Amino acid sequence: MGAGIIGVGRYLPERVVTNADLEKMMDTSDEWIRTRTGIEERRIAPDGMDTSDMAYVAAVKALENANISAADIDLILVATVTPDRSFPSVACMLQERLGATKAAALDISAACAGFIYGMVTAKQFIDNGAYRYILVVGVEKLSKIVNWSDRNTAVLFGDGAGAVVMAPVSEGRGILSFELGADGTGGKHLYHDEYVMMNGREVFKFAVRQMGESCIHVLEKAGLSKQDVDFLIPHQANIRIVEAARQRLELPEDKMSTTVKKYGNTSAASIPISIVEELEAGKIKDDDLIIMVGFGGGLTWGAIALRWGR
Ligand code: UT7
Repeated sequence: MGAGIIGVGRYLPERVVTNADLEKMMDTSDEWIRTRTGIEERRIAPDGMDTSDMAYVAAVKALENANISAADIDLILVATVTPDRSFPSVACMLQERLGATKAAALDISAACAGFIYGMVTAKQFIDNGAYRYILVVGVEKLSKIVNWSDRNTAVLFGDGAGAVVMAPVSEGRGILSFELGADGTGGKHLYHDEYVMMNGREVFKFAVRQMGESCIHVLEKAGLSKQDVDFLIPHQANIRIVEAARQRLELPEDKMSTTVKKYGNTSAASIPISIVEELEAGKIKDDDLIIMVGFGGGLTWGAIALRWGR
Protein backbone atom coordinates (compact mmCIF):
# COMPACT_ATOMS: atom_id res chain seq x y z
CA MET A 1 0.00 0.00 0.00
CA GLY A 2 1.12 3.55 -0.68
CA ALA A 3 0.11 6.84 0.97
CA GLY A 4 -2.04 8.92 -1.36
CA ILE A 5 -4.80 11.49 -1.66
CA ILE A 6 -8.40 10.24 -1.29
CA GLY A 7 -10.27 13.55 -1.05
CA VAL A 8 -9.75 17.24 -1.83
CA GLY A 9 -11.37 20.60 -1.11
CA ARG A 10 -10.60 24.29 -1.48
CA TYR A 11 -11.89 27.67 -0.43
CA LEU A 12 -11.23 31.05 -2.04
CA PRO A 13 -12.71 34.25 -0.58
CA GLU A 14 -15.30 35.92 -2.84
CA ARG A 15 -13.66 39.34 -3.05
CA VAL A 16 -11.59 39.71 -6.23
CA VAL A 17 -8.87 42.38 -6.19
CA THR A 18 -7.68 43.16 -9.71
CA ASN A 19 -4.45 44.80 -10.82
CA ALA A 20 -6.54 47.86 -11.73
CA ASP A 21 -7.71 48.02 -8.08
CA LEU A 22 -4.04 48.00 -6.96
CA GLU A 23 -3.19 50.79 -9.40
CA LYS A 24 -5.51 52.99 -7.32
CA MET A 25 -3.73 52.07 -4.07
CA MET A 26 -0.01 52.25 -5.01
CA ASP A 27 2.46 53.22 -7.72
CA THR A 28 2.10 50.13 -9.92
CA SER A 29 0.50 49.10 -13.22
CA ASP A 30 -1.46 46.18 -14.61
CA GLU A 31 1.20 45.90 -17.32
CA TRP A 32 4.08 45.59 -14.80
CA ILE A 33 2.28 43.03 -12.65
CA ARG A 34 1.23 40.86 -15.62
CA THR A 35 4.60 40.83 -17.35
CA ARG A 36 6.73 40.38 -14.19
CA THR A 37 4.45 37.96 -12.29
CA GLY A 38 1.64 36.68 -14.54
CA ILE A 39 -0.90 37.67 -11.86
CA GLU A 40 -4.19 39.13 -13.12
CA GLU A 41 -6.18 39.12 -9.89
CA ARG A 42 -6.19 37.68 -6.36
CA ARG A 43 -8.75 36.95 -3.64
CA ILE A 44 -8.72 38.83 -0.34
CA ALA A 45 -10.59 37.61 2.75
CA PRO A 46 -12.82 40.06 4.65
CA ASP A 47 -11.85 41.36 8.12
CA GLY A 48 -14.12 38.95 9.97
CA MET A 49 -12.71 35.86 8.21
CA ASP A 50 -9.43 34.47 9.54
CA THR A 51 -7.15 31.62 8.48
CA SER A 52 -9.01 28.94 10.47
CA ASP A 53 -12.34 29.95 8.85
CA MET A 54 -10.95 29.35 5.35
CA ALA A 55 -9.26 26.12 6.48
CA TYR A 56 -12.55 24.86 7.91
CA VAL A 57 -14.50 25.26 4.65
CA ALA A 58 -11.76 23.56 2.61
CA ALA A 59 -11.48 20.74 5.18
CA VAL A 60 -15.23 20.03 5.24
CA LYS A 61 -15.20 19.72 1.44
CA ALA A 62 -12.18 17.39 1.51
CA LEU A 63 -13.84 15.11 4.08
CA GLU A 64 -17.04 14.97 1.98
CA ASN A 65 -14.99 14.27 -1.13
CA ALA A 66 -13.11 11.47 0.66
CA ASN A 67 -16.41 10.13 2.00
CA ILE A 68 -15.16 9.94 5.59
CA SER A 69 -16.37 11.70 8.72
CA ALA A 70 -14.39 14.01 11.00
CA ALA A 71 -14.42 11.33 13.71
CA ASP A 72 -12.32 9.11 11.41
CA ILE A 73 -9.37 11.54 11.25
CA ASP A 74 -6.24 10.45 13.13
CA LEU A 75 -4.10 13.54 12.57
CA ILE A 76 -4.59 17.12 11.37
CA LEU A 77 -1.61 18.95 9.86
CA VAL A 78 -2.05 22.60 8.89
CA ALA A 79 0.65 24.28 6.84
CA THR A 80 0.45 28.03 7.39
CA VAL A 81 2.56 31.09 8.22
CA THR A 82 -0.53 33.17 8.97
CA PRO A 83 -2.24 31.34 11.88
CA ASP A 84 -5.08 33.12 13.69
CA ARG A 85 -2.78 33.23 16.74
CA SER A 86 0.62 31.71 17.62
CA PHE A 87 -1.38 29.24 19.78
CA PRO A 88 -3.69 27.41 19.89
CA SER A 89 -2.69 26.17 16.46
CA VAL A 90 -5.03 26.40 13.48
CA ALA A 91 -4.95 22.58 13.52
CA CYS A 92 -6.39 22.52 17.07
CA MET A 93 -9.03 25.11 16.14
CA LEU A 94 -9.99 22.91 13.19
CA GLN A 95 -10.04 19.80 15.37
CA GLU A 96 -12.66 21.42 17.60
CA ARG A 97 -14.75 22.88 14.78
CA LEU A 98 -14.79 19.67 12.76
CA GLY A 99 -15.44 17.51 15.82
CA ALA A 100 -12.40 15.39 14.97
CA THR A 101 -12.22 14.16 18.54
CA LYS A 102 -9.61 11.43 18.12
CA ALA A 103 -7.23 13.50 15.94
CA ALA A 104 -3.84 14.77 17.07
CA ALA A 105 -3.21 18.24 15.66
CA LEU A 106 -0.32 20.55 14.83
CA ASP A 107 0.65 23.39 12.52
CA ILE A 108 3.66 23.20 10.20
CA SER A 109 5.75 26.31 9.56
CA ALA A 110 7.68 25.89 6.31
CA ALA A 111 6.22 28.88 4.42
CA CYS A 112 5.34 28.19 0.78
CA ALA A 113 6.83 24.69 0.98
CA GLY A 114 4.61 23.91 3.98
CA PHE A 115 2.03 21.83 2.16
CA ILE A 116 4.74 19.56 0.69
CA TYR A 117 6.27 19.23 4.17
CA GLY A 118 2.79 18.34 5.47
CA MET A 119 2.13 15.66 2.87
CA VAL A 120 5.54 14.08 3.41
CA THR A 121 5.00 14.07 7.21
CA ALA A 122 1.59 12.45 6.74
CA LYS A 123 3.12 9.78 4.51
CA GLN A 124 5.44 8.63 7.33
CA PHE A 125 2.55 7.95 9.73
CA ILE A 126 0.56 6.14 7.03
CA ASP A 127 3.53 4.05 5.89
CA ASN A 128 4.38 2.90 9.42
CA GLY A 129 0.76 1.99 10.11
CA ALA A 130 0.31 4.39 13.04
CA TYR A 131 -2.49 6.39 11.36
CA ARG A 132 -5.01 5.78 8.60
CA TYR A 133 -6.71 9.12 7.79
CA ILE A 134 -4.71 12.35 7.87
CA LEU A 135 -6.10 15.76 6.98
CA VAL A 136 -3.43 18.02 5.43
CA VAL A 137 -4.40 21.67 4.93
CA GLY A 138 -2.49 24.52 3.27
CA VAL A 139 -4.03 27.87 4.19
CA GLU A 140 -3.02 31.52 4.32
CA LYS A 141 -4.49 34.91 5.03
CA LEU A 142 -1.45 36.75 3.69
CA SER A 143 -3.41 39.98 3.36
CA LYS A 144 -3.05 40.50 7.12
CA ILE A 145 0.78 40.47 7.03
CA VAL A 146 1.32 42.35 3.76
CA ASN A 147 2.31 46.01 3.83
CA TRP A 148 -0.30 47.48 1.49
CA SER A 149 1.95 50.43 0.68
CA ASP A 150 4.92 48.25 -0.39
CA ARG A 151 4.52 47.58 -4.11
CA ASN A 152 7.39 45.06 -4.06
CA THR A 153 5.27 42.58 -2.10
CA ALA A 154 1.64 43.74 -2.00
CA VAL A 155 0.91 42.91 -5.64
CA LEU A 156 2.06 39.29 -5.26
CA PHE A 157 -0.03 37.67 -2.56
CA GLY A 158 -3.57 36.37 -2.06
CA ASP A 159 -5.68 34.51 0.50
CA GLY A 160 -7.12 30.99 0.26
CA ALA A 161 -7.18 27.41 1.50
CA GLY A 162 -6.77 23.90 0.11
CA ALA A 163 -7.14 20.58 1.92
CA VAL A 164 -6.53 16.91 1.18
CA VAL A 165 -7.32 13.70 3.03
CA MET A 166 -4.41 11.28 2.88
CA ALA A 167 -4.81 7.55 3.48
CA PRO A 168 -3.46 4.18 2.32
CA VAL A 169 -4.09 3.71 -1.42
CA SER A 170 -3.63 0.80 -3.86
CA GLU A 171 -0.18 -0.59 -4.60
CA GLY A 172 1.68 1.58 -7.11
CA ARG A 173 -0.39 4.69 -6.35
CA GLY A 174 0.27 7.54 -3.92
CA ILE A 175 3.62 9.15 -3.08
CA LEU A 176 6.41 7.39 -5.01
CA SER A 177 9.28 9.62 -3.83
CA PHE A 178 9.94 12.95 -2.16
CA GLU A 179 12.61 15.49 -1.35
CA LEU A 180 12.63 18.04 1.46
CA GLY A 181 15.29 20.65 2.08
CA ALA A 182 16.16 23.84 3.91
CA ASP A 183 18.85 26.51 3.82
CA GLY A 184 18.63 28.78 6.84
CA THR A 185 21.43 30.98 5.50
CA GLY A 186 18.89 32.33 2.99
CA GLY A 187 16.35 33.24 5.68
CA LYS A 188 17.29 36.90 5.35
CA HIS A 189 15.84 37.05 1.82
CA LEU A 190 12.22 36.37 2.83
CA TYR A 191 10.87 36.90 6.35
CA HIS A 192 8.05 38.33 8.42
CA ASP A 193 8.46 40.86 11.21
CA GLU A 194 5.66 43.37 11.20
CA TYR A 195 5.17 42.76 7.47
CA VAL A 196 6.43 40.38 4.79
CA MET A 197 9.90 41.49 3.69
CA MET A 198 11.47 40.11 0.53
CA ASN A 199 14.55 40.40 -1.62
CA GLY A 200 12.67 39.43 -4.78
CA ARG A 201 15.67 38.88 -7.04
CA GLU A 202 17.45 36.54 -4.60
CA VAL A 203 14.29 34.52 -3.99
CA PHE A 204 13.69 34.38 -7.74
CA LYS A 205 17.16 32.96 -8.48
CA PHE A 206 16.87 30.41 -5.66
CA ALA A 207 13.37 29.37 -6.78
CA VAL A 208 14.26 28.79 -10.42
CA ARG A 209 17.31 26.70 -9.51
CA GLN A 210 15.70 24.72 -6.68
CA MET A 211 12.36 23.91 -8.31
CA GLY A 212 14.04 22.45 -11.38
CA GLU A 213 16.57 20.46 -9.32
CA SER A 214 13.94 19.05 -6.94
CA CYS A 215 11.72 17.89 -9.82
CA ILE A 216 14.63 15.99 -11.34
CA HIS A 217 15.63 14.52 -7.95
CA VAL A 218 12.19 13.05 -7.17
CA LEU A 219 11.98 11.56 -10.66
CA GLU A 220 15.40 9.93 -10.19
CA LYS A 221 14.43 8.61 -6.74
CA ALA A 222 11.27 7.05 -8.23
CA GLY A 223 13.25 5.53 -11.12
CA LEU A 224 11.30 7.64 -13.62
CA SER A 225 12.19 10.20 -16.27
CA LYS A 226 10.85 13.53 -17.57
CA GLN A 227 8.91 11.71 -20.28
CA ASP A 228 6.86 9.91 -17.62
CA VAL A 229 5.41 13.14 -16.12
CA ASP A 230 1.72 13.74 -16.85
CA PHE A 231 1.16 16.95 -14.89
CA LEU A 232 3.21 19.49 -12.92
CA ILE A 233 1.83 21.40 -9.94
CA PRO A 234 4.45 23.93 -8.85
CA HIS A 235 3.96 26.37 -5.98
CA GLN A 236 2.25 29.32 -7.65
CA ALA A 237 4.66 32.17 -6.92
CA ASN A 238 5.25 33.82 -10.26
CA ILE A 239 4.54 32.72 -13.84
CA ARG A 240 8.20 33.16 -14.84
CA ILE A 241 9.34 30.86 -12.01
CA VAL A 242 6.84 28.09 -12.81
CA GLU A 243 7.58 28.40 -16.54
CA ALA A 244 11.26 27.72 -15.78
CA ALA A 245 10.27 24.51 -13.96
CA ARG A 246 8.04 23.46 -16.86
CA GLN A 247 10.84 24.00 -19.34
CA ARG A 248 13.25 22.02 -17.17
CA LEU A 249 10.84 19.07 -17.41
CA GLU A 250 10.24 19.74 -21.13
CA LEU A 251 6.47 19.68 -20.60
CA PRO A 252 3.90 21.28 -22.91
CA GLU A 253 2.02 24.32 -21.53
CA ASP A 254 -1.24 22.45 -20.87
CA LYS A 255 0.52 20.03 -18.51
CA MET A 256 1.22 22.56 -15.76
CA SER A 257 -1.02 24.41 -13.34
CA THR A 258 -0.98 28.23 -13.60
CA THR A 259 -3.59 29.26 -11.04
CA VAL A 260 -1.28 32.14 -10.03
CA LYS A 261 -3.06 34.17 -12.74
CA LYS A 262 -6.36 34.09 -10.81
CA TYR A 263 -5.23 33.77 -7.20
CA GLY A 264 -1.73 35.27 -6.95
CA ASN A 265 0.72 33.65 -4.54
CA THR A 266 -1.27 31.98 -1.73
CA SER A 267 1.87 30.43 -0.15
CA ALA A 268 1.12 27.06 1.52
CA ALA A 269 -2.36 27.01 -0.05
CA SER A 270 -1.29 27.30 -3.67
CA ILE A 271 -0.51 23.62 -4.35
CA PRO A 272 -3.69 22.12 -2.82
CA ILE A 273 -5.84 24.83 -4.45
CA SER A 274 -4.23 23.94 -7.79
CA ILE A 275 -4.85 20.22 -7.25
CA VAL A 276 -8.59 20.86 -6.86
CA GLU A 277 -8.74 23.23 -9.86
CA GLU A 278 -6.93 20.80 -12.15
CA LEU A 279 -9.02 17.83 -11.03
CA GLU A 280 -12.19 19.81 -11.76
CA ALA A 281 -10.79 20.80 -15.15
CA GLY A 282 -10.20 17.13 -15.96
CA LYS A 283 -6.43 17.58 -16.18
CA ILE A 284 -5.63 14.92 -13.54
CA LYS A 285 -6.76 11.31 -14.04
CA ASP A 286 -6.19 8.02 -12.23
CA ASP A 287 -2.66 6.68 -12.64
CA ASP A 288 -1.28 10.00 -13.89
CA LEU A 289 2.21 10.84 -12.62
CA ILE A 290 1.97 14.19 -10.85
CA ILE A 291 4.98 16.23 -9.72
CA MET A 292 4.35 18.78 -6.97
CA VAL A 293 7.14 21.17 -6.04
CA GLY A 294 7.39 24.13 -3.71
CA PHE A 295 9.88 26.60 -2.24
CA GLY A 296 9.60 29.44 0.22
CA GLY A 297 10.82 31.44 3.18
CA GLY A 298 13.28 29.65 5.43
CA LEU A 299 14.51 29.03 2.88
CA THR A 300 12.66 25.74 2.40
CA TRP A 301 11.83 23.49 -0.50
CA GLY A 302 10.16 20.20 -1.23
CA ALA A 303 8.91 18.00 -4.05
CA ILE A 304 6.76 14.92 -4.40
CA ALA A 305 6.26 12.43 -7.24
CA LEU A 306 2.76 10.99 -6.86
CA ARG A 307 0.81 8.43 -8.85
CA TRP A 308 -2.80 9.69 -8.71
CA GLY A 309 -5.68 7.52 -7.53
CA ARG A 310 -7.09 5.76 -4.47
O1 UT7 B 1 6.47 32.22 -2.48
C1 UT7 B 1 7.76 32.74 -2.50
C2 UT7 B 1 7.65 34.23 -2.44
N1 UT7 B 1 8.40 35.04 -3.30
C3 UT7 B 1 8.61 34.94 -4.64
O2 UT7 B 1 8.32 33.98 -5.28
C4 UT7 B 1 9.21 36.12 -5.29
C5 UT7 B 1 10.31 35.82 -6.27
N2 UT7 B 1 10.65 37.02 -6.99
C6 UT7 B 1 9.89 37.53 -7.96
O3 UT7 B 1 8.85 36.97 -8.30
C7 UT7 B 1 10.37 38.77 -8.66
O4 UT7 B 1 11.66 39.08 -8.23
C8 UT7 B 1 9.43 39.99 -8.44
C9 UT7 B 1 8.11 39.78 -9.18
C10 UT7 B 1 9.14 40.19 -6.96
C11 UT7 B 1 10.08 41.25 -8.99
O5 UT7 B 1 10.40 41.06 -10.35
P1 UT7 B 1 11.85 41.46 -10.90
O6 UT7 B 1 11.82 41.22 -12.33
O7 UT7 B 1 12.86 40.72 -10.07
O8 UT7 B 1 11.88 43.00 -10.62
P2 UT7 B 1 12.89 43.84 -9.68
O9 UT7 B 1 12.64 43.53 -8.25
O10 UT7 B 1 14.25 43.67 -10.24
O11 UT7 B 1 12.37 45.30 -9.97
C12 UT7 B 1 12.44 45.90 -11.25
C13 UT7 B 1 11.86 47.30 -11.16
C14 UT7 B 1 12.41 48.11 -10.00
O12 UT7 B 1 12.55 49.43 -10.44
P3 UT7 B 1 14.01 50.01 -10.80
O13 UT7 B 1 14.80 49.86 -9.54
O14 UT7 B 1 14.51 49.14 -11.93
O15 UT7 B 1 13.70 51.41 -11.19
C15 UT7 B 1 11.30 48.05 -8.96
O16 UT7 B 1 11.28 49.17 -8.12
O17 UT7 B 1 10.43 47.22 -10.95
C16 UT7 B 1 10.07 48.03 -9.83
N3 UT7 B 1 8.90 47.44 -9.18
C17 UT7 B 1 7.64 47.73 -9.53
N4 UT7 B 1 7.12 48.53 -10.47
C18 UT7 B 1 5.78 48.57 -10.59
C19 UT7 B 1 8.89 46.54 -8.17
N5 UT7 B 1 7.62 46.24 -7.85
C20 UT7 B 1 6.82 46.95 -8.69
C21 UT7 B 1 5.42 47.03 -8.86
N6 UT7 B 1 4.95 47.85 -9.83
N7 UT7 B 1 4.56 46.33 -8.12
